[in-house]
Amino acid sequence: MIAAAETEMITAGETVIIAAVKNDKNTQQEIFMKKILFPQVKGMIHGGDYNPDQWLDRPDILAEDIRLMKEAGVNSATLGVFAWSAYEPVEGEFHFDWLVQIMDELYKNGIYTILATPTGARPAWLDKAYPEAMRVSKAGVRNMHGLRHNHCITSPKFQEKAGILIRRLAQRVKDHPGLILWHINNELGGECYCPLCQEKFRGYLKEKFNNDIQKLNAEWWTAFWSHTFNDFDQIDAPMAQGEGSIMGLNLSWKEFTTWNMAQYITFEREILKEITPDVPVTTNFMHLYPGLDYHRLAKELDVVCWDSYPVYHNDYEPMSAVAGLNSFDHAIIRNLKRDQPFMLMESTPSLVNWHPFNKLRRPGVHRLSSVQAIACGSDTVQYFQWRKGRGSFEQYHGAVIDHLGRSDTRVFRDVADVGTVLKKLEPVTGSRIEAKAAVLFDWSNRWAIDNLPGLSKDKKKYEMTCCAQYESLLRLGVETDVVAVDEDLSRYALVVAPMLYLLKPGMADRLKAYVEAGGKLVMTYLSGYVNENTLNFLGGFPGDGLKSLFGLFSEEIDTLYPSDRNHAVFGDGSVYEIVDYCEIIRVEDEAAEVVATYQDDFYRNTPVVTRKKNGAGEAWYVAARMDQKGMERIYAQCLEEAGVACSPQPEGVEYHVRTNGEERFGFWLNHTDEKKTVTVKAGKELIGATDVDGEICLEPYGVAVVQFS
Ligand code: GLA
Ligand code: ZN
Repeated sequence: MIAAAETEMITAGETVIIAAVKNDKNTQQEIFMKKILFPQVKGMIHGGDYNPDQWLDRPDILAEDIRLMKEAGVNSATLGVFAWSAYEPVEGEFHFDWLVQIMDELYKNGIYTILATPTGARPAWLDKAYPEAMRVSKAGVRNMHGLRHNHCITSPKFQEKAGILIRRLAQRVKDHPGLILWHINNELGGECYCPLCQEKFRGYLKEKFNNDIQKLNAEWWTAFWSHTFNDFDQIDAPMAQGEGSIMGLNLSWKEFTTWNMAQYITFEREILKEITPDVPVTTNFMHLYPGLDYHRLAKELDVVCWDSYPVYHNDYEPMSAVAGLNSFDHAIIRNLKRDQPFMLMESTPSLVNWHPFNKLRRPGVHRLSSVQAIACGSDTVQYFQWRKGRGSFEQYHGAVIDHLGRSDTRVFRDVADVGTVLKKLEPVTGSRIEAKAAVLFDWSNRWAIDNLPGLSKDKKKYEMTCCAQYESLLRLGVETDVVAVDEDLSRYALVVAPMLYLLKPGMADRLKAYVEAGGKLVMTYLSGYVNENTLNFLGGFPGDGLKSLFGLFSEEIDTLYPSDRNHAVFGDGSVYEIVDYCEIIRVEDEAAEVVATYQDDFYRNTPVVTRKKNGAGEAWYVAARMDQKGMERIYAQCLEEAGVACSPQPEGVEYHVRTNGEERFGFWLNHTDEKKTVTVKAGKELIGATDVDGEICLEPYGVAVVQFS
């Protein structure tokens, strides 16, 4: 029970945490009940990227935009994402009046501003005057002016020019009541191989290896092919025509790129915080972006957000698979800051212009995908873009307002509908997901696996394997987080660690402690092969002391051709298909129980699934890429034994629960084009404003949100 008197408000920047202290005699435990990202805004955020800088000669259109935003139930606009030229058309000449006028107009009409720093693209004058601001490619060639995101974030000139502009911008808007969030740059990414970046990389390595080149040589195994370094100065980035054969170097470069990006974010953020200390800061992340470790970058931000563009209605997978991957993405982003909601910073109300086939969203799908974001823990639905430009690269990208310029369109009606739905979901604002299961997901592990010189070229599929485990757990109706390897695991009854090839220092001990304390751990083939520098463990995988946790070791790993199949046979005779990878494992510990064996090939009848009790918990090992039915069976058993209730839903229906400590909200999302009936406890369905108890029939692509009584 939460005593009202013990509830207090804590202000952290512009975010408000309503916290309560649970008064339990034994555990003085703090529970975060609600975290409202933007206290100024009532309820959920609905809005999107708005580029008035492209329409400054059309005041009629700008006035119409405000009228239409209100009609669509929009309460926020993301301004200035690529507006450097509009702010500073020539070096040192600044124009912010247009921006302030628009922010004023928006604010007068109840629309808040998310303001970007415009450093995602640079004006031509800057690149002509300071070529060092442009990136150098992996081939060592300096880019020319053009496109966007083409900057060297290390370049002092780029930072100097960006810094001047950001400072002036922040000073100009610092007291504006409409400003609720800073949005740094846009979709930060890419790599630069210029001399400045390489020098910084060498500095990073010196720090990492304590200035000890022999330590680096040992960890990178450079005696191989005579690649030993005498000095840090001899090390180059892994250039296209240079060194690419040292796995430790390749991984360090990836990690450096993130480290350097974190420094860049800090550079922009510190200017903003100095001038507007109370305005939170974010930057928009991308779909499973391979280039940056978002767990690391999120530490530099107040709020996390991402841009979601699922390939709906494709001809190679069902909608539920598209939605499953999107849900997995949401879960990754949500867990970058698990104590607060995240933001869906961009999505399209209709289509994009960069999928291989740019298909329209079918009726109902815009509401479905928007409510999916909320169900997964977002407190915003935002678009790219509010209004379509007349020319250039994104002139055919979907927008709320088309070239038609009217509001009586299907897309506008869909957007206005979402505006209405979000108002009805206001009580959900600030609540969060409490998951009982977690899938571990790690960028360094991902990079090490992608760069692993062996197995098969195209079938490593680390991200998709993690996604498949997440989807299996969702199918069982169990809320699942996707978390970093350094996350506190003790809150989960079940932790799944798929393909945890690389073990960071201390990871093995943390997994052991988790199991000892009562956790259920499921680990798979290709786990515990290398340390944080990709140096193999000796004496059997999984290494670093994990063999004893499972009571086994992996002796060999077999890579199957795409048409090859093996099978896992369980004790009750049930059989599950195996593709891609089979480890041949040796169980040498009597405490380890063989749960299933291989059916085929020369290793038939040898173990493929095992379990071993350790302390109060249990460690499962799945030595092959087994089909999802087989994995689901294991998860269901683990969860049942852990006393976690599963709530499986009809095929194609995704289910989530958000809670704020006192109230609970159930979400059902029908990702099929058929009607589906789901079972619900008594409550109020918020979108239809009807009392429900027992069953709800979901329309094709339909959704229901029930506030339980
Ligand atoms: C990204 C960018 C936007 C826009 C969209 C198009 O998300 O952030 O500026 O280019 O893609 O889908
Ligand atoms: Zn550079």
